[in-house]
Amino acid sequence: MKKTELLALLLHNVALEHSAIVQYLYQVFLIRDPGIREEIEKIAREEMRHLKWFAQKVVQIGGEVEIKRVEEAIDLSRETLKGMIEADISAEELAIKTYTQQLETVRDDSVRRLLERVIGDEESHKGEFEELLRNAEEEKINRGSDSADQKTTSVLNELFREEYAIILKYLKAFFHSKNWEHRDLMLDLAVESMVHMGDLGEKIGELGGRPDFTPADLGDAEGLTLPDQIMENILYEQTSGEKYLREGEITEREDIKRLLSKIHHQERYHHTRLREFLERIHRFTVGDLRKRRD
Ligand SMILES: [Fe+2]
Ligand SMILES: [Fe+2]
Ligand SMILES: [Fe+2]
Repeated sequence: MKKTELLALLLHNVALEHSAIVQYLYQVFLIRDPGIREEIEKIAREEMRHLKWFAQKVVQIGGEVEIKRVEEAIDLSRETLKGMIEADISAEELAIKTYTQQLETVRDDSVRRLLERVIGDEESHKGEFEELLRNAEEEKINRGSDSADQKTTSVLNELFREEYAIILKYLKAFFHSKNWEHRDLMLDLAVESMVHMGDLGEKIGELGGRPDFTPADLGDAEGLTLPDQIMENILYEQTSGEKYLREGEITEREDIKRLLSKIHHQERYHHTRLREFLERIHRFTVGDLRKRRD
């Protein structure tokens, strides 16, 4: 197998894991039963680990990480709990089939071991979903969607879509950066943005709305130098922080006010963290130049 083929295969797996994450989180935001939510959320977190491992392999082999999705593998059409879990079993079966087939052609030992590990995980997920299905009811999810507060859910969805897009951006920077402090910062901000996205998604579900998993268009950081990338992130965090402040003032609901204000404060801190990092890399560059001149 050629290197380009192996890279394509790994990127496909990144996209497949990403698709499962989208499907599972969508359900987590809509399902009200705390036990079932927790179970599916736990599995989604394991898919995140799979995504990370496949993406790290791409970097190790010398490829470029793209976090795409396999749209036809995402099923957000199910209206009942039972239907949702059936779709999850299908997703796990597709993953098992895909990775098992790959084992027939992949010769790279380290990738083979990774595939074997992930297949084991997916098999156990399938078993967990099958057990959930045995106890699941035909009950319809989100009966309140007609009465959903359209204006509030659409504002929350706009914020949700931006968090989703920035997570993808920060993760990409995390996979590719050669500066350890930058990597650490990117992962940190990605994880906090995941919490924001999760809190927003949960609120959207609570209001009877449906979380919109279309990432907002935040532009591409392709070709930007590290300081320019950070500048772009700083601007984003600033605009995003202001947006949370503004929307928090408009809404009447106390719980949403509280959530948006909390995120607003955290975005301001993200802004600060990025600015401090930018100052440090500038100082480093200037110090370097001075040394060279001496
Ligand atoms: Fe997975
Ligand atoms: Fe899985
Ligand atoms: Fe942020």
